Parts: sequence; C-alpha cells; structure tokens
Amino acid sequence: MEVIIHRDYQSMSKAAALLVAEVLNTKPNAVLGMATGSTPLGLYQELVRLHKEQQLDFSRVTTFNLDEYVGLPARHPQSYHYFMHEHFFQHVNIPPQNINIPSGTTSNYPAFCQWYENRIAEFGGIDLQILGIGSDGHIAFNEPTSSLSSRTRLKTLSKQTIDDNARFFDRREDVPVYAITMGVGTILDAKKLVLVASGKGKARAIAQTIEGPVTSMVTASALQLHRDATIITDEEAATGLKMRDYYEFIYAAKPAAPKS
Ligand code: F6R
Repeated sequence: MEVIIHRDYQSMSKAAALLVAEVLNTKPNAVLGMATGSTPLGLYQELVRLHKEQQLDFSRVTTFNLDEYVGLPARHPQSYHYFMHEHFFQHVNIPPQNINIPSGTTSNYPAFCQWYENRIAEFGGIDLQILGIGSDGHIAFNEPTSSLSSRTRLKTLSKQTIDDNARFFDRREDVPVYAITMGVGTILDAKKLVLVASGKGKARAIAQTIEGPVTSMVTASALQLHRDATIITDEEAATGLKMRDYYEFIYAAKPAAPKS
C-alpha cells in the first residue's frame, strides 16, 4: 500500500486525478470505478479540467459506480445518478451507454446485483477504482462488519453514515436506510485502487485503515490485502498516522528507486 500525504485538498485531488489520467493514457478504453460523496469532487473537477484543457479523452472509457441509495430515482437531487451527471458525466465525453450505476429503484435487488457483478466481469473487470472513506471506515457502503469477501448487494446503512450524510438532505429522516453497494470483494478485484481522504473527520478511520489490523470493523482496512492500493490524504486526514515520517521518506526516495 502506498500512502501519499498532500498539504491540502486541492493538491490531493490533483494527485489522484493524475493517477486516473495515467491509466487512461496507457489504456484509453479503461474501465473506471467511480465514487460519490464530497471528497472526490475536486478529483472530478481536475479530470474535467484535463479533458477540456489537455484533451484527456474518455470516449472509450466505461464506468461503474460503487453504490446508490435504494428508493431514490435517478432524477432525485441526492441520488448518486444525479451527482455523477452534475459533477462529472455531463462535462466529459463518456458515451452514456458506457456509464453503469446501480439502480436504486429496481424491482428485484438480488437479480440486479448479480447482473451488475456479471456486467463488470463482461467488461474485463475494473482497471482503477476510485474510493472515498466513511468516518466509520467504510468503503462504498460496506459498513462495519461487512464481509471482506462481500459482493454487490443490498446493505443497511449504519447510524453513523446516516448522520454523516444527513447534511445533504433536508431532514435526517429523509436519508435512505438502504443502499445497493459493490462488496469489499468486488472492490478488491479491481486492478488498482485509489482512496482519497480529506479533513480531520477522517483521521481516525485513515489511521485504522493503514496502521490497524485488517478487520471487517473498518472495511477500508481490506486495502492492506490489495497489491496495488494508493491512499492519498490531505494534512488533516493524516494526523492520526504514527508512521507518517516513513511514508514521506518512501515518497521522497521513490524517484531514485531502481525500476527493474
Ligand atoms: C460513495 C461512497 C462512500 C463515500 C464515503 C465518504 O460512493 O462510496 O463510501 O466515499 O461515505 O463520503 P464523503 O466523501 O462525502 O465524506
């Protein structure tokens, strides 16, 4: 696992966008896994800028989103369909038929979840999965105690996540209780993982993820099992890390490291 600490949200977002751009430059028809929430907003803005100013091309890209609230139709302003369209898809040249987001309004959730898993496999798997992290250590909506080999399924949100996400809704009671989410196992199958974390509200979860035991109580800790996971944080999210000096030493020494 690589840990990179940036001074602020903006440089964290730019660094994450560069990793995405590198994948697209080597594989123009890459399959990208997308996350929602406030943290990746800067990353999406930077990708839009790279598209507009440096012709970063998404015309052959396919995307799979991590999750969606159950019960919210795609046009609902708090749905993840709406979020992705507003903040990213409408600003780049991804063909609409290449965009995949779990449905929050299907009539058969188990069948839909199996279909979503099959579709990811049909496209050859996810090349790069973007992730955020909940203050309870979740990735996607894999709440504490989610199996580390879970697949896409319906999940009940934790009270902590409902509280955290209430800021986007008029009332706490409006936050959906269920979501469809890729599982931890689905996420670990992606070839590359990039997790972004910003702010002191994430410091504890980030420390547990990087330096704690691998545990279903902090599903992001499963990233320790992945062979190509990068965690990019800002200063505040890194404040709980004990080995920070070492991560900075590794990063500084990287350019001179033998390549083969
Ligand atoms: C959303 C998702 C969630 C968020 C997490 C952090 O697609 O996967 O795990 O990444 O809840 O959300 P923010 O960034 O709003 O703090």
